[in-house]
Amino acid sequence: MLRNKNTTLGEYIIENQSSFQYSSGELSKLINAIRLAAKVVNYEVNKAGLVDILGDAGDTNIQGEDQQKLDVLANQKFIQTLKNREIVCGIASEEEDHFIAINSSDQQHQNKYVVLIDPLDGSSNIDVNVSVGTIFSIYRRVTPIGTPVAMEDFLQPGRNQVAAGYIIYGTSTMLVYTTGDGVNGFTLNPAIGTFYLSHPNMQFPERGNIYSVNEGNYNHFPQGVKNYIKYCQKEEEDRPYTSRYIGSLVSDFHRNMIKGGIYIYPKSSTASNGKLRLLYECNPMAFIAEQAQGKASDGFGPILDIKPEELHQRVPFFCGSKKMVEKAEEFMAHQA
Ligand code: AHG
Ligand code: MN
Ligand code: MN
Repeated sequence: MLRNKNTTLGEYIIENQSSFQYSSGELSKLINAIRLAAKVVNYEVNKAGLVDILGDAGDTNIQGEDQQKLDVLANQKFIQTLKNREIVCGIASEEEDHFIAINSSDQQHQNKYVVLIDPLDGSSNIDVNVSVGTIFSIYRRVTPIGTPVAMEDFLQPGRNQVAAGYIIYGTSTMLVYTTGDGVNGFTLNPAIGTFYLSHPNMQFPERGNIYSVNEGNYNHFPQGVKNYIKYCQKEEEDRPYTSRYIGSLVSDFHRNMIKGGIYIYPKSSTASNGKLRLLYECNPMAFIAEQAQGKASDGFGPILDIKPEELHQRVPFFCGSKKMVEKAEEFMAHQA
């Protein structure tokens, strides 16, 4: 199996195809399509700083085309790329009210995978040139092949994921993903448009010293979260921890996976289930976290065991280094 830093993502996908359970090449094609969409969105994100020159959302650009908000554009690019390749039977997106059923022209409903995406995560960071991302999650459909895709194909527990990943458009652009056999990170060389295996076998340190939470909401947090934050700040043993919060889940997660840390978006008195979406954000990140020896919880139990009830469902999220998430769960168990 190819695992060195000269390996490109394209080579890696081919080499690893045989290791997928029930592999027919469909998942490889799907990941290839995501790789392509990532490059297209990367190009658009990189142009964001030129918006004053090229025109803002709602304006008409020099070619007479309407300018679009980047989250809408990213949504379109991902959906288009997946649709054009006829490799999935359905797509659900944070940016769409309903799931999209794909009726591939010559192969009615023959594909077996559904994809769920958060096309642009951390979109409020775009205007200030701070990292944003894309999150994706892949399941095998549960309804029979040959029938139209249905809601139950999307409302599967995260435990059923076949693959999940994210793209981070940061100081460099990376694609990080898992197919259930560890987590690998690929960095884009923009000069030639190729992703290289820069971060093989990524793993969360068992514990870290970073906590990431929007403390502006502190007064509204459950007592267990307040107590955990006080614990992080206490001068004792290896504490106080460092506070780092970018406001882009992908970026906060990525940093914490490399350095060791915990990300928390709890419920609050103003948001009864927190803010993050179970299907587009928490499940894929939880799958990656577990595959990287980390942990993801709603404060009481594994995110991946939650049975989703609706597409845009929100859920409290505690994710990162294993020992840190366990400690936060201990505080929650005492005083939710
Ligand atoms: P999105 O841009 O897809 O709506 O997601 C933003 C999410 C997440 O990425 C981030 O961690 C969180 O919202 C930030 O929320 P607050 O501004 O409430 O802290
Ligand atoms: Mn998001
Ligand atoms: Mn989004």
